[in-house]
Amino acid sequence: MKTAIIFKTKHGTTEKVAYMLAKALSADGSEIRVIDLAKTRQPHLVSYERIIIGGSIHVGKIQREIRTFCDKHTDALCAKKLGLYICCMETDEIKRQKEFEDAFSEKLKKHASAKGIMGGEFLLEKMNFIERLVVRKIAHTKESVFDIDTQAVKKFISEIN
Ligand SMILES: Cc1cc2nc3c(=O)[nH]c(=O)nc-3n(C[C@H](O)[C@H](O)[C@H](O)COP(=O)(O)O)c2cc1C
Repeated sequence: MKTAIIFKTKHGTTEKVAYMLAKALSADGSEIRVIDLAKTRQPHLVSYERIIIGGSIHVGKIQREIRTFCDKHTDALCAKKLGLYICCMETDEIKRQKEFEDAFSEKLKKHASAKGIMGGEFLLEKMNFIERLVVRKIAHTKESVFDIDTQAVKKFISEIN
């Protein structure tokens, strides 16, 4: 099934997850394109049967570009098989769910056949001074943390297949 995985990332984790999904979904011969919204601002959606949208949470919110893209293309996205995921480092289950709920519109969430909260990473070497301060304050860590949820990735793959 021809698939586009459209993502936005700050330090590379959402992209990493996009390629994990691409690798798994291409196993059955599906043609998968991974599209970075920062580089391809207006990807054409018509030729895809399945679309996956991924973004990451920073200070409670998904990237504005993901929201704008989703709002602009709601009708087109609702005509496809759809998956939505976020990367985030919130550990409280209720707060993580809320971050996902706030990230996408009701219409897209209702239509999506796969929804994923994929965990994330704190990559200190890629952060600027302010980001490091924020992370030290919210997560009390001075070291990088690698916490992509591979179970959530697997569940997402089975839901979208
Ligand atoms: C400055 C900063 C703020 C963050 N704020 C949140 C947050 O409010 N909630 C959350 O769940 N994760 C938060 N995170 C964690 C990111 O969602 C996590 O690092 C994610 O893997 C980033 O993915 P990306 O590199 O693809 O952007 C924050 C990370 C940074 C660096």
